[in-house]
Amino acid sequence: MLTSPSFVDIDTQWSTVDPLAECRRELHKKAFAARHPLANHPLFSMGALAKVAEEASRRNGDLYVDAGNFTFADKWDTTPKPNMTIPEIFERIETAGAWLVLKHVETNPAYMALLDEFKAFLLEIAGPEGSKLLSNAEMIVLITSPRRKSAFHFDAEVNFLAQVKGSKDIWVCDPMDRSVTTEEEIEQYYTVANNAGTYKPHAEKVARKFTLRPGDSVHIPTHASHWVQNHDSVSVSVSFNMEFPRRYSDTYRANHYLRRLGLKPRPPGTSDFVDRSKAAAINSLRQVKSLIRR
Ligand SMILES: [Fe+2]
Repeated sequence: MLTSPSFVDIDTQWSTVDPLAECRRELHKKAFAARHPLANHPLFSMGALAKVAEEASRRNGDLYVDAGNFTFADKWDTTPKPNMTIPEIFERIETAGAWLVLKHVETNPAYMALLDEFKAFLLEIAGPEGSKLLSNAEMIVLITSPRRKSAFHFDAEVNFLAQVKGSKDIWVCDPMDRSVTTEEEIEQYYTVANNAGTYKPHAEKVARKFTLRPGDSVHIPTHASHWVQNHDSVSVSVSFNMEFPRRYSDTYRANHYLRRLGLKPRPPGTSDFVDRSKAAAINSLRQVKSLIRR
């Protein structure tokens, strides 16, 4: 028997699942669920995204693709590139074993309006003080073939992953669990390798697992290691990001160089004075380098 579609469950705006005050306390510290209005949105149909991919391919570094049989322990710069053009991958996405990443989708004004809606939601969660720390909103579309895994990694941004089409499982770890995301890995992330996070077998036991269906979102804090298992159909997800101040990233950069000198640097957050001094040193180095290049 055919049933008419139900529109009851379609969200019209971003919202938290738990009370806003609780999410404000947990923002940037713990993973939590949210809801979004983009489930099966026409701007994320495969036809629309094929055009977005074509736009991204004309910008340096805004399109990434790989394909094959992956484990959570694989690293994305060592994975094989598909022997297909981007339009061919879109045509064969059901069987290509592909993972496509389209960055800075908001350069297209239609998508920018969606990013603005997310930004208003995130700033509301962050509150008046927390909002001052956030900048540079960005939107990344992730298209994944059925049953494809995405590698263990962590990111620098404050992230909300929104499921638009298909479904998947995602495991998210505590960003402060240094048995999962180590100080050395964070330092390497900011200096030499943005895929520095390395899979640890015990991570699944300490991670929180979320199953995402269209309309679901999960907050992934900065440095919270995570990995993804797609279900049996093509998945379209959107990663909405904002950045925290550069002060912390520069402190990690300084710590990377100090560690290379054989020292054991103090992690950021234990002394504001030390953090600022290290960041100032990195900034001075940056200015010297820029003067030399002139
Ligand atoms: Fe990520």
